[in-house]
Amino acid sequence: MTTTMDDQSVAQRVLDHIANGTTDLGRQIWREPVANYRSPERLKAEIETVLRCTPTPFCPSAALPEVGSYVAREAAGIPIIVVRGSDGKVRAFRNACRHRGMQVAAGSGCARALVCRYHGWTYNLEGKLRHIPHEDGFPGLDKEAHPMVPVTAVERLGLVFVTQDEPARGDDSLGGLEKLIAPDQRLFATNERDFEVNWKIFLESFIEGYHIKSTHPESFLPYGFDNLNVIDTFGPHSRVTYPFQRIKKLAKVPPAERRVEGLLTYVYHLFPNVLITVLSRHTNVVILEPLAIDRTRQFTYTLTNGGGDDPEALAEAKRDAGFVGNTGAQEDRAVVQAIQRGLASGANDAFTFGKFESAIVHFHQTLTAALPRG
Ligand code: FES
Ligand SMILES: [Fe+2]
Repeated sequence: MTTTMDDQSVAQRVLDHIANGTTDLGRQIWREPVANYRSPERLKAEIETVLRCTPTPFCPSAALPEVGSYVAREAAGIPIIVVRGSDGKVRAFRNACRHRGMQVAAGSGCARALVCRYHGWTYNLEGKLRHIPHEDGFPGLDKEAHPMVPVTAVERLGLVFVTQDEPARGDDSLGGLEKLIAPDQRLFATNERDFEVNWKIFLESFIEGYHIKSTHPESFLPYGFDNLNVIDTFGPHSRVTYPFQRIKKLAKVPPAERRVEGLLTYVYHLFPNVLITVLSRHTNVVILEPLAIDRTRQFTYTLTNGGGDDPEALAEAKRDAGFVGNTGAQEDRAVVQAIQRGLASGANDAFTFGKFESAIVHFHQTLTAALPRG
């Protein structure tokens, strides 16, 4: 499948699963060698040949609301800065000054120019070197030949995608998606945190609902279902639908009039390392940056689900985010960190992903195919 199912098709499929006591099933089981979570060579290949060469969401467009807005962080081990230029266009650069390599900005903010704080070389928002303090110390230096070094940045579906190394791999398969982050969704929190866990183990915890009953008996299960998901894949990506109990009321609504907002959670996995979780009243854009085989930096951007500047939409989104972040997400993090601590035990040569875990199978199949053989 190259596009995601529409909301009405998802709703019907969920109602059928509820009626029949079933869930979506993948075609095969998958055995992923534990060595693939522990090997520095494997991680190096994942970073260099997949993460850097895939158009990957860097931040939501909402993080760059005006001319001069910038976000700087490391992506796939390389300092990158994205900035909205005077023409409103988003550009991305390798975040290293052309004098002696200092990062020209850190974190996020809004600036009229990018000024390196080591010696003050100054770049405009389009990356051109505009000013060198005491320029007479650099006779003959051509400022035109020393711009910030660009990488590919594209704004799409409310996200800024960055491709560090060309040629970009993969197809243009986001084509099937009509929206991810809408213009009336407001960014209200950003968070950055490191976890002692391999990035793929962390990722896997987002994209299957087989664990809901055991891991989330009090947080998610009372509102949701045990092992009842709709899973679609599109290109290298996937989407897992987690319905809430209250979706049952749609059975009485004519199919064409069914609206799913607030009745289910969509979790999009954008290959390779980004998750977009569309919850009842808020949306998280989660980026998992591998730092080492056993260490991952999680960047989270939290947005309202719409409503523009309406204070009530914002208050609802904050309440919803507080609940999910303080309960279910903590339970997931405890599990993945425990798995990480046991990886070296030798108990498993491989992990087995079953037919309920088909989004993970799709991920490993896609990743394996993207890596050089050998
Ligand atoms: S390293 Fe940037 S001005 Fe010297
Ligand atoms: Fe979970």
